[in-house]
Amino acid sequence: MPSVTAYRRPTAGTQPDYLFPRYASTVKRAPTQPLVMLPQTQTELTGPVFGYGEVKRGDHDLTQQHAGDPIGERIIVSGRVLDENGRPVPNTLVEIWQANSAGRYPHRVDQHDAPTDPNFTGAGRALTDKRGHYRFVTIRPGEYPWRNHYNAWRPAHIHFSLFGQAFVQRLVSTLDWETTIPEMALGYRFDIVLRGPEETPMETKKGALR
Ligand SMILES: [Fe+2]
Repeated sequence: MPSVTAYRRPTAGTQPDYLFPRYASTVKRAPTQPLVMLPQTQTELTGPVFGYGEVKRGDHDLTQQHAGDPIGERIIVSGRVLDENGRPVPNTLVEIWQANSAGRYPHRVDQHDAPTDPNFTGAGRALTDKRGHYRFVTIRPGEYPWRNHYNAWRPAHIHFSLFGQAFVQRLVSTLDWETTIPEMALGYRFDIVLRGPEETPMETKKGALR
């Protein structure tokens, strides 16, 4: 077995509390027991490798998945996946899901009174290239109400999932003119750092709709 380097642990006192009652979602999601520090073994320090056969051509373009064009403003979201030392992570699976332009998910649990779009499913997949780059073409998601407190709304956002090493559930992206296609779509850049002090905020839980 080749030896692998362990990840740096966060410096004590530098991370926000898991439980923050004024943000109601944390009450259900925060651990109720003290955390158990697990040793980092080969399983934690390595991940699966995907072949290109796993992701179909066009899976990255959410505007071309149905017979017609989805309603809304086209946008391009691209960026890189980086490790804790700023090195690109190639050939890793990036998945996204999002509401349509009216702020509605095509899911039975979502009963928000906003229209669904028959030409928009809101799910996409991509593999990073050898420089760690990924790129999605999609529709700007709409805001939707979320009952954290009275009259709470979630800002427009896209959920990210990175298979194998970590899951991500927050997008703070930068308008990027180099990615923008004139007369077609605005471009946004979102670099994802998997580990370390510059780590992108993450949740390990997956499966919740929102
Ligand atoms: Fe959401």
